[in-house]
Amino acid sequence: MFARTALRTTLAASAPASARSFSQSAAVSKTVAVLGASGGIGQPLSLLLKLNRDVTDLRLYDVRLAQGVAADVSHINTPAKCTGYAQEDLEKALQGTDVIVIPAGVPRKPGMTRDDLFNTNASIVRDLAKAAAKVSPKAHMLIICNPVNSTVPIVAEVFKKAGVYDPKRLFGVTTLDVTRASTFLSEIAGSDPADTNVPVIGGHSGVTIVPLLSQAKQSDAVKSEQYEKLVHRIQFGGDEVVKAKDGAGSATLSMAYAAAVFTKSLLKALNGEKGITECTFVESPLFKDQASFFASPIELGPNGVENIPALPKFTAEEQKLLEACLPDLRKNIEKGVSWVSENP
Ligand code: 2OP
Repeated sequence: MFARTALRTTLAASAPASARSFSQSAAVSKTVAVLGASGGIGQPLSLLLKLNRDVTDLRLYDVRLAQGVAADVSHINTPAKCTGYAQEDLEKALQGTDVIVIPAGVPRKPGMTRDDLFNTNASIVRDLAKAAAKVSPKAHMLIICNPVNSTVPIVAEVFKKAGVYDPKRLFGVTTLDVTRASTFLSEIAGSDPADTNVPVIGGHSGVTIVPLLSQAKQSDAVKSEQYEKLVHRIQFGGDEVVKAKDGAGSATLSMAYAAAVFTKSLLKALNGEKGITECTFVESPLFKDQASFFASPIELGPNGVENIPALPKFTAEEQKLLEACLPDLRKNIEKGVSWVSENP
């Protein structure tokens, strides 16, 4: 008996990380809903979430086609049960969810900023948030729908109105900025992107995106004449995709990947794994008087936001980037908040 127990322990300890995380998490079932599952981001995101063994029940909702996407994804031989929900079944899709990811909304066309999407996407997010606040108020809300700098405050206001707001459970997904920063810096440094980590703070739009390149161990590889160009590429990387897609939308595959990475980290933290930190846009005390929501590296835990650590010391360049970020970010946040009060 003793020998068998000892052997199991040894096997568990030496198992590869993927097997370990499966055995650790299999006991804790997690239900994840994707709202906007048949869109450009929603489809690849649904696929990636079906591959995540921490997801046991995957609910795919959209105004059209979600049942088709769910039927397709459900044939993948991973444990998650996958069900599609039609437009009229939104509340059913949300019942008992732990995590709700919202990629719904319209994407940008060439020449548009994320803020140009505000008028269309604000009401989409508000209505989905209302349903979530009613049916699954304790779910962790992951907002992808742009402009994230405004849609996250919109969700917060809707939840406040319903009396169920918990700032620890609301996240703007900014992982794509971190992903891009890692990729673009590694191209300059000749490093492995997996080992090239750049925290990105602020918001998720143009100059509100502030990469802290000084925190990457490859930062010395960036020559002073390359710095501005690199920062600009990280801030406006989304525009490269919008331009290349030439009217057919914005980043979908890399966005889905980034959102799947963030969801994976959050699920691990919800399942009790320690030491999980991701950059994400949350209600934050860091620059409270200037911007009540702010993206920074956040320690995640069983209840969502566990701790918002102080930021490292900025370089002079980073300080300038931050000064350019804060007024825009403040405007974006205020726009979301006042829109909800005018359009409850
Ligand atoms: C981007 O950064 C779609 O907002 C997304 O490209």
